[in-house]
Amino acid sequence: MSVIHIRGRHGLNGEIRIQGSKNGVLPIMAGALLHRGTTVITNVPIIQDVLCMMGILEYLGCHCTLEDHTAVIDATYAEVAPVPCAMSGQMRSSVMLLGPMLGRFRLAVSRHPGGCCLGNRPVNLHLDAFRALGAQIRTEGEQICVFANRLHPATIRFPYPSVGATENAILAAAAVSGATRILGAAREPEIEMLCAFLGSMGAKITGGGTSCILIEGGVSLHDSTFEVNGDRIVAGTYLGALLRSGGRLLLRGAAASQMEESLRLLSSMGMEIAVRPEGILAKMSGRPCACDFSTGPYPEFPTDLQPVMMAGCASADGESRIRENVFEKRFSCAEELRKLGASIIIEDRFARVKGRHPLHGARVQAKDLRGGAALVAAGLAAEGETFVEGYEHISRGYEDISRDLAQAGAEIALE
Ligand code: UD1
Repeated sequence: MSVIHIRGRHGLNGEIRIQGSKNGVLPIMAGALLHRGTTVITNVPIIQDVLCMMGILEYLGCHCTLEDHTAVIDATYAEVAPVPCAMSGQMRSSVMLLGPMLGRFRLAVSRHPGGCCLGNRPVNLHLDAFRALGAQIRTEGEQICVFANRLHPATIRFPYPSVGATENAILAAAAVSGATRILGAAREPEIEMLCAFLGSMGAKITGGGTSCILIEGGVSLHDSTFEVNGDRIVAGTYLGALLRSGGRLLLRGAAASQMEESLRLLSSMGMEIAVRPEGILAKMSGRPCACDFSTGPYPEFPTDLQPVMMAGCASADGESRIRENVFEKRFSCAEELRKLGASIIIEDRFARVKGRHPLHGARVQAKDLRGGAALVAAGLAAEGETFVEGYEHISRGYEDISRDLAQAGAEIALE
């Protein structure tokens, strides 16, 4: 099993090219299933979740290639088949196939999706959206079967702006003739990206990125080429690492317009940030200030960056308070951060982090994707050597975190 080995306390100086967005590309790849033809996707990150999604698409009869960050998906001969447990169990985004399968084949069968263990992750809102479009649902144990003789357009109202449920509703509705409205939609940039992708194939969708999305479904789709945006969470991770290492980083391809709340918080902790046409330029010197923040649906602070900010708070000057509003078990890296000397008290959805400086190296275990990245960030600022185990979690979403940070001067290697 690979381990990330870090010798801490080197500043970060240089440039990192930000990979394409994981949470953007996965629903887009699922969406390729809607078109009986070829879809080309560029700036695709080479991460485990992308490889897993390709594996599932191939299992369903698509022909896929991935070369030089370009994926070509030919879904002409795709057929309906239950997504095997071994595949759907590996990642949460396998659930994104339900919408396009239902739209194209009027039948979708999959297991309750896997992915990071962040507490209870129900799919009731996804299923409610399918029901609104006329589908019936049968669940047997972990198996979910969604089917319909006829689907019809509908007004879908979400009581909570779920990212995945909004994406699934869009993907299914794109294949249903007539006008479907989604009210209470999630507004994440990845949803805007999905709508732009479907638009590039000929779909008629307006309102992506707002809470009201209108889909004129059932229009015929054509071959297309689409470029995935830079990953705002990866960019935020590297800024989080800079927060405690200090130095100067240019994040090429990072979209500052999608990161307003994160950049505001980082500035309040002492980071100097300049938005450049080529990306984000950030400088940090001295110890970060403590902060108070809570996570929430976009445009609020992203839950995916909460662990890396918690790592930042661990060596900040003063006591920070964090409220996690999206996932109930997103503090699991706290226990590992404590092994590096962090002082963190968790009470329900709140964390109190007393800054300590410096942290010290230790052997720690990544238990989920973003928590793992947070441990890497913490290790960079810790005195001595840190070994981060559980690389299989980190590689689900980061193309090569050691390569990127080593390029900016960190002493870090995957062993
Ligand atoms: C997506 C992202 C994930 C990110 C999250 C929040 C992908 C692959 N994953 O996850 O990285 O952390 O958005 O920005 O893009 N919920 C329900 N019922 C449902 C669906 C969700 O109660 O049917 C709840 C969840 O338990 C959670 C909240 O809604 O408390 C947010 O979930 P959601 O926005 O759906 O996140 P995901 O799509 O799972």
